[in-house]
Formats: sequence, structure tokens, C-alpha cells
Amino acid sequence: MNVINPTTTPAWERLVELADKYKDLQILSLFNERERFERYSIQLEDLLVDYSKNRINDEIRDALLDLARETELHVAIESMFEGKHINQTEDRAVLHTALRNRSDRAVYVDGHNVMEDITAVLQKMKVFATKVHDGKWLGYTGKPIKSLVNIGIGGSDLGPVMVTEALKPYQAENLEIFFVSNVDGTHIVETLKKVDPETTMFFIASKTFTTQETMTNAHSARNWFLNHAKDEAAVAKHFVALSTNLKGVEAFGIDPNNMFEFWDWVGGRYSLWSAIGLPIACAIGFDNFEQLLEGAHAMDEHFRHSQFDRNIPVLLAIIGIWNTNFLGAASEAILPYDQYMHRFAAYFQQGNMESNGKYVARDGEKVDYTTGPIIWGEPGTNGQHAFYQLIHQGTHLIPCDFIAPAISHNPIGDHHPKLLSNFFAQTEALMKGKSLEEVRAEMNKAGKSLEQIDQVGPHRVFEGNRPTNSMLVKKITPYTLGMLIAMYEHKIFVQGAIWNIFSFDQWGVELGKVLANGILPELNNEEEITSHDGSTNGLINAYKKMR
Ligand code: F6P
Repeated sequence: MNVINPTTTPAWERLVELADKYKDLQILSLFNERERFERYSIQLEDLLVDYSKNRINDEIRDALLDLARETELHVAIESMFEGKHINQTEDRAVLHTALRNRSDRAVYVDGHNVMEDITAVLQKMKVFATKVHDGKWLGYTGKPIKSLVNIGIGGSDLGPVMVTEALKPYQAENLEIFFVSNVDGTHIVETLKKVDPETTMFFIASKTFTTQETMTNAHSARNWFLNHAKDEAAVAKHFVALSTNLKGVEAFGIDPNNMFEFWDWVGGRYSLWSAIGLPIACAIGFDNFEQLLEGAHAMDEHFRHSQFDRNIPVLLAIIGIWNTNFLGAASEAILPYDQYMHRFAAYFQQGNMESNGKYVARDGEKVDYTTGPIIWGEPGTNGQHAFYQLIHQGTHLIPCDFIAPAISHNPIGDHHPKLLSNFFAQTEALMKGKSLEEVRAEMNKAGKSLEQIDQVGPHRVFEGNRPTNSMLVKKITPYTLGMLIAMYEHKIFVQGAIWNIFSFDQWGVELGKVLANGILPELNNEEEITSHDGSTNGLINAYKKMR
């Protein structure tokens, strides 16, 4: 990866000037230009992305596009697709795009065509997933599998959770799916209460096969299972491993035949396209899983080959940079108007924050500009009755992404038009706001006294001018969901490339793990602990007394 401090580019300098020049720019006024919607939206197959409700005009957009060029984004994109070791701090290629490469193109990592390995694992997944999905995989007492339990955490959990929830309408009726991630015993215990050992398949999902939470839960699940089955040989019918670590899998006691492999060039938070997607394939069927890959591939092709000014992930990324670095936004909300997508924001909390939550630039120096935003969100309309108040009238600028399907999987009564009317209304309200004059006229019409109008009026004013992107898809299908996920993945990639950080490592989560491993033995006795700072000692000792 190139090392270019974005703030040293002419484009950045121009953007600083433009931020000042257009500090009072009103989004609404930009619609004086009739064609704005057409010029500031892109349709890709069944996905429409409208970015017209942002505080950007042509001058700003051009400067942002220049920033992408001047930081040599095109080189970064090609380096990723070509399998270069762009994850330099771990010395690895970054090739989730190869996992969903549906073309005949070979993809090489260090001279080896990984497409052959990918195809072989996909074939193995197909055979297994089809058996489970069709009720033909039988447990140790000869009964078909009914419950799928995925044991994993982070990227080995969130992707399969988010996708199986989003694609619930495609799930086989004979199957239920559960996810255990937290090392809190409650998670595994409550899950095991709901399943029957004779009809349950456990997926032990861990790239490293060393993660404390996953290994602890996996051992507890195995003990529980053996307490019932009382036969080690039965494990092979009920436990599979999704991992890169063959030795770890064998040491755990899972037959290598029951291991579905992936590789170190698949980042954990980009792994749902790999063997980590096996529970997805079992739940929704392999054909649908392939559709998910197809949709992501379509977005990959669009991203790799489109000009930056017609490139959805690039445009979303540079708008995000404008909002973050020039308008001072610290967070972004992802707001799906689709109940099935209720874990989408949580998924991209990891996707985005673990990727771009970094203050060290690629040259090892500390950055002097803002990088990854805080990502959060909930499905509309629930969010409207919870935190939208702050988005509309709070002191923080919170750019929002609104996502909705035009066609619902559950077209009951007028629910969907009502849902979508809220989607459209919210983006309009965030942009337009409401002036004091409007409030006064409204209150006057409602018969309020002048005193009441003076007192309450200011509280009812909305400044507006809040930026939003709107993504409208025809329907949430495996294909369109694949497109949406890949769209955000590439947005994150583009931002990391421009911010001059490494988006594919996660050293920031290591320290806590190491310290926890040091503390664990200290909890196994009743001795007073003095080896930490005063607060940590105090907490540990208080815990020991309370338990
Ligand atoms: O804690 C961070 C992390 O390494 C994530 O990046 C990863 O998705 C998660 O832990 C789980 O790791 P593994 O799949 O190796 O169990």
C-alpha cells in the first residue's frame, strides 16, 4: 500500500477551503437544480443509491474525487483484487473478493491460484449443506438435523447471524438456527435448553481455533452432547469445524473430514463468504448462498471497473470522508427499514470499526486527522421512537444511511407503505427541518397564545440540513443482500486506503485479551491481589468477596 498522508494532497487543501466557503450550504437549496436527484444517484441492477441529500455540490464532489485519485486509490483497489499482501502488518493478502469470484478469472496469492481451493471447499460445503438443508443428514440416533448451533464470535458470528436473520424468509422450515458467542455461560446454557442432542448440528466457527470464548463454548457444548450421546464416535455426526487451523481442529477432537477450511487471506470480519458461511448455506440452501455470492460479485465488478464518479462504494466513502473530516461528524447511523435486517448495523459495527478504528498511519506515525467513525443503528421505525430525537435536534451531526426494500416479504395490509412513508419522511425532515416561522404559523393556526408560541416555539424548530444517503432495493433477496454487504465492505476499504491506515488488522483488540489471560488465574484463589493498579486490584478483590 502506498503511504500518502491525505492531508498533504492538493485536494485536501482545496477541501479545507471548500468547507469554509460552503459552511452555510443548505442541502435543500441544492435541489434548485432540477436534475440533482438524477445526477446524485446511481442505479445498479435492483439497487438505487441516492446520495443527493448531502452537503455536497459539484465542486466538493470533484475535489473529493481528486482526493481519491491523489491518494492513488486505484492502485489500492487493484492491489487488493490481485492478491497483493496489502494487510502488511500481518503480511497477508486480502481476498474476500476471491471467495465470491463467480468469473473464470484466476486469482493468485504468492503464485498460487486460490480459485481451485475455493471451488473445492464450496463443493464440499454444497454436499454437506444440501444434506442438512434437505433433512438427509442424520444424527447419531438416525433422526434428521433440526437445530443448527453456530459457536463463534466477532467475524465468526456476526456475519452468519446478520445474514440468516436478513434472509429468514428463505430459511428451511425444518430447521432452526442459534448463535452462541458470549463466554457468559448464560448464552450456551440458554441455547442448549432449546435443542435436542439427537437433532443438533454444532458449527465451531473460528478462524484461529484459539479464541477463548469460542473454545470455551465449544467444549461446554461437546461435554453436554457427550453426556447425552455417551459415545465419542457420535461427535462426527454433530460437530463440524470452520477454520484455518487444522491442528487446532484435530486437537479439539473434530475429524479433519468434518473441517471446512478457509485461509489466512480471509479477514474474520470479511469471512461470511468463506466456510464461515456454512450455517447460512445449511439454513437457506446452497443455491441461495450462491446467490449471495453472486450479488457480492456484481458489486465487486462494479467497484473494480467503474469510474470513481459512478462508483457506489467510492462515492459513499468520499461522502463519509467529507462528513467526517470536513464537517466534523464523529459517527454514522445505519438505519434499515426492514425488520429482517435488524443485525445489519451491528454487523458493520465490527466491519467498519475494527477495520478503520485506527490512529496509526501506514508509516507508523500517529495521524493528525479523524479516521473511522462510530457506527450504530437500529431498524426503522423503532429507532424513530428512540434516538432520532438526537439526530434531528441534537448537537452532533450524524449522517445516516437509510436502507429499504420496495417489496416486503410480508405484504400484510398497509404495513409496508406505512413503513416506507416513514423512511421517505425522515430523510426529507432531516434535510428540510422546520423554521421558526413555520412553527409560529403552525401554532398560531392551532390556536396557541402568543406567549405559548414564544415559549415553546424555539423547541419545535428543526435546523435540518442533516445529510443522508438512501438505498432502495427492489427486495431483500440473497443477491441484493450480497450487493449491499459488498457495497459497505468496499466503502470501508476506500476510506481506509484514503486515510492511509491499515484496514485489515485488529491489533487494538489484543491487549485486553492478554490481560484477561493474566487475570484469570488470579481469580482461582482467595488471596488478595496487589499486582495491578489500585482500581483493578480493588475490583478483583471486591469480586472475590462478593462471589
Ligand atoms: O477479537 C477480534 C477477532 O480477532 C476478530 O477479528 C475475529 O472476527 C474474532 O476475533 C474471532 O476470531 P476467530 O474467528 O479466530 O475465533
